[in-house]
Amino acid sequence: MNVQTIMVIGAGQMGSGIAQVSAQAGFRVYLNDIKQEFVERGLAAITKNLTRNVEKGSISEEEKQAVLSRLMLSTDLADAKDADFVIEAVTENMAIKTQIFSKLDEVCPPHTILASNTSSLPITEIAAVTKRPERVIGMHFMNPVPVMKLVEIIRGLQTADEVYQLTEDLSKQMKKVPVSVNDFPGFVSNRVLMPMINEAIYCVYEGVATPEAIDEVMKLGMNHPMGPLTLADFIGLDTCLYIMEVLHEGFGDSKYRPCPLLRKYVKAGWLGKKSGRGFYVYN
Ligand code: CAA
Repeated sequence: MNVQTIMVIGAGQMGSGIAQVSAQAGFRVYLNDIKQEFVERGLAAITKNLTRNVEKGSISEEEKQAVLSRLMLSTDLADAKDADFVIEAVTENMAIKTQIFSKLDEVCPPHTILASNTSSLPITEIAAVTKRPERVIGMHFMNPVPVMKLVEIIRGLQTADEVYQLTEDLSKQMKKVPVSVNDFPGFVSNRVLMPMINEAIYCVYEGVATPEAIDEVMKLGMNHPMGPLTLADFIGLDTCLYIMEVLHEGFGDSKYRPCPLLRKYVKAGWLGKKSGRGFYVYN
């Protein structure tokens, strides 16, 4: 199978990043979301990134224009009829994802592969709402997508080997490093990362140290590029809480209980960088 056209569903931080690396890899890309203003915002973020690359000299102005010319904006899921490969990157909500996959299954040709960028939800369950579970797979990119090398590829229970192979090849074409992981809550990345972030939040909650001190310990002591609380703000505290809940419910183990302070911040609307306030204040 020869992939020419990719549709990315969800034009937020992750979706626009995925659309950018897909277009940079030479694919025709539909960037889809429910409202025109959302896809336009996604395109503006991509344009800004590419302009910065031109200024730094890592790409030419012609390359930037060529990448942009491969991007098409869409607010209609039915456009997926032209796609060979779809990557869903909408909010972490099983009901919304299954609704989208069920619709995609209706409109896409039989050869189309349906991938989800979910950060923790079961691929097997998403696949089960389609009549093509063998062509459904997890393709978990990291934020910021244009910079981070990893793509965690998650096989659902019924994912076909050829679909896995093609997804791995596609990731490499996007200049990413694919790593194969089985379908368990949080996969590997978030099963290891989120309890660390949650524990850092417990350190704030219990008064062990200030957010600044905790971040400094992890940056200077463990060589992490960002401290765990800065990273939590960057990912979004609502997303962090959601993933902890998936781990807690999925394993039924109290070691994954979300910190009450994380719940409180999310209830207050302190969602991190995107809302202007989390563990830190952003202007
Ligand atoms: N989009 C595109 N490029 C970006 C970017 C963005 N949002 N942010 C930074 N960059 C680029 C910069 O342009 C710069 O490029 P050059 O080297 O070519 O100049 C490079 O990244 C480094 O940026 P900076 O010098 O500004 O800053 P930095 O050295 O502190 O790096 C960082 C920024 C790459 C984000 C780094 O801090 C980092 O690696 N942080 C940790 C990120 C991380 O852990 N991500 C995973 C989150 S978990 C997740 O995504 C999974 C999930 O399911 C929740």
